[in-house]
Amino acid sequence: MSQSILLLPGDGIGPEVIEQAVRVLNVVADDITTQSSLVGGASIDTHGVPLSDDTLELAKASDAVLLGAVGGPKWVDAARHLRPEMGLLQLRKGLDVFANLRPAYCFPALVDASSLKREVIEGLDLMIVRELTSGVYFGEPRGIETNADGVRFGYETSRYTQPEIERVARVAFEIARGRGGEVCSVEKSNVMESGLFWREIVTALHAAEGDGVKLSHLYADACAMELVRAPKQFDVILAGNLFGDVLSDEAAMLTGSIGMLPSASLGIDGTPGLYEPVHGSAPDIAGQGLANPCAAILSLEMALRWSLGRADAADRVLKAVGEALNAGARTRDLGGSLSTQEMGDAVIAAL
Ligand code: IPM
Ligand code: MG
Repeated sequence: MSQSILLLPGDGIGPEVIEQAVRVLNVVADDITTQSSLVGGASIDTHGVPLSDDTLELAKASDAVLLGAVGGPKWVDAARHLRPEMGLLQLRKGLDVFANLRPAYCFPALVDASSLKREVIEGLDLMIVRELTSGVYFGEPRGIETNADGVRFGYETSRYTQPEIERVARVAFEIARGRGGEVCSVEKSNVMESGLFWREIVTALHAAEGDGVKLSHLYADACAMELVRAPKQFDVILAGNLFGDVLSDEAAMLTGSIGMLPSASLGIDGTPGLYEPVHGSAPDIAGQGLANPCAAILSLEMALRWSLGRADAADRVLKAVGEALNAGARTRDLGGSLSTQEMGDAVIAAL
């Protein structure tokens, strides 16, 4: 049976960048079939919900899901359950992709695109492993309410169970073994109970299963600081959902442009992974052919590697993106003037 990828282009620049990823797929693995469906605002406009049951079923039945981006000004005032971002959260939860891998590496051709000094980021190669289906994003109770004195308040619950922490920490240890062998676990155990618990469980798991891995711990604020001071000290950073969200945007920007970075979200073995650029829907430049398709192309690269067992094709894609950059191909975010399509052309030419 042939392998299949479900494409969920989504909103804003999502469709433009996914189109280029599909062109690349057709060059490196034309036997893999694709199917498309709607998510986010695009799904709200057509089906009235950000993720339909049909789309979730299609996602579960595929080998990998490649998503563009969700969200935009058109839907910001909608009730929470009718906002595009909920489609993404429901998809993550529905596929149970609890381990979000967000690499931050610096392509040699882009060392001068970063706002940090060359020596700080040259050779940077770190991986953030972010827990993706629990924590404060999903914890109950939550809400906006009014207390007995008539004072309104908003709140949510930061909750992690032992199995939730263990399964994502296990992934971080495994990834570290295939890289530099170091995991830095991040929380706020100085102020949060869920953070204290996180540290306890990660430490115990490391003692039991952490052979070959050096474990360290940092508070999330200190980690944010160290990421701009000396990012090359990190190999794998392990974080919960919220801190992982924040730190991965910061790490992405170290490399010059958030338009370069892909992500993979993995569940248990044998279930489809979800692949998406770290960047958002960028409504300000949507539809103008200005978006950098590299993060989407590299998300395809991760799908080929992690879900489709096609490391050979993945290596070709990674190399081609590097070569296109070496040859001077740059979209606007990288200080150049290529259109989305032309950047896709440059990667395909390198292939
Ligand atoms: C991300 C995004 C999402 C998140 C939003 C769009 C819900 O910021 O993937 O990092 O917060 O997880
Ligand atoms: Mg984010």
